[in-house]
Amino acid sequence: MKRKHVIVTGGSRGLGLKMVEGLLADGYRVSTCSRSKTDAIEQLRSSEYGGRLFWQECSIGDEGQADDFVKAAVAAAGDDGLYGLVNNAGVAQAGILASFPNVESERILRINLLGAIEMARAAAQAMLRQNTGGRIVNISSIIGSRGYNGMAAYSASKAGMDGMSRALARELGRRQITVNSLAPGYVETEMSSTLTAAQLSQIANRTPLGRLATEQDILDVLRFLLSDASRMVTGQVILVDGGISC
Ligand SMILES: NC(=O)c1ccc[n+]([C@@H]2O[C@H](COP(=O)([O-])OP(=O)(O)OC[C@H]3O[C@@H](n4cnc5c(N)ncnc54)[C@H](OP(=O)(O)O)[C@@H]3O)[C@@H](O)[C@H]2O)c1
Repeated sequence: MKRKHVIVTGGSRGLGLKMVEGLLADGYRVSTCSRSKTDAIEQLRSSEYGGRLFWQECSIGDEGQADDFVKAAVAAAGDDGLYGLVNNAGVAQAGILASFPNVESERILRINLLGAIEMARAAAQAMLRQNTGGRIVNISSIIGSRGYNGMAAYSASKAGMDGMSRALARELGRRQITVNSLAPGYVETEMSSTLTAAQLSQIANRTPLGRLATEQDILDVLRFLLSDASRMVTGQVILVDGGISC
């Protein structure tokens, strides 16, 4: 039986893991990567979904790694080919720019933006070869359009992803490959664990829906963007933030 194969980068924990679990439960074949393997990935591989899950170590942003990973994932998927890419892997580091090391800005941009562009390039090559359409979803952030104190490089990387979504949507549209950004607000994961309790409650208070997003909130919108229901949606930045940026 043919299955839709989706690559989710950075699936070892946090949002990426939630997406991997959710898409496997929905019946997709899923490939994921991270720099280190977690127990959660091991457990999934020995679960009932294990036969549809491919994991390989990959350091996104490092020369040639995206190409190698996509090739290995597509080869492992066999006749299932490649239906979707979710550019989820990312890093964040806060710091006032005036004292923020350039090398850290370079690292954030290389992983979050250049790495995502390289992954999109490798996935687009596979999708174009198949000529059966596809989906690319870039996990950006509301910080990409709104900014945030102490997050200049991260904000630039996410704004860059949104620009990539718009440009690639134009480039790939005639081949029925949609490209969108899914931009979460603040989600409770390891990445946002550096925020203090006071900051988290301030964010919740300023949010019209009165709470931070959950991983489930993000997964549900991803499901829509990967589904046939979103076939006419491309080049968009979909904010999932409880209305904080409205
Ligand atoms: N959490 C939030 O509030 C929030 C809000 C808006 C947007 N986002 C975005 O959502 C995405 C996921 O965030 P998260 O909170 O789930 O982060 P997280 O808990 O820190 O997980 C990040 C994942 O990406 C992987 N990763 C990081 N750098 C990598 C690299 N160079 N190559 C391969 N894998 C890499 C990590 O594994 P390894 O470290 O083992 O490589 C891990 O699996 C990110 O793009 C983030 O910017 C998060």
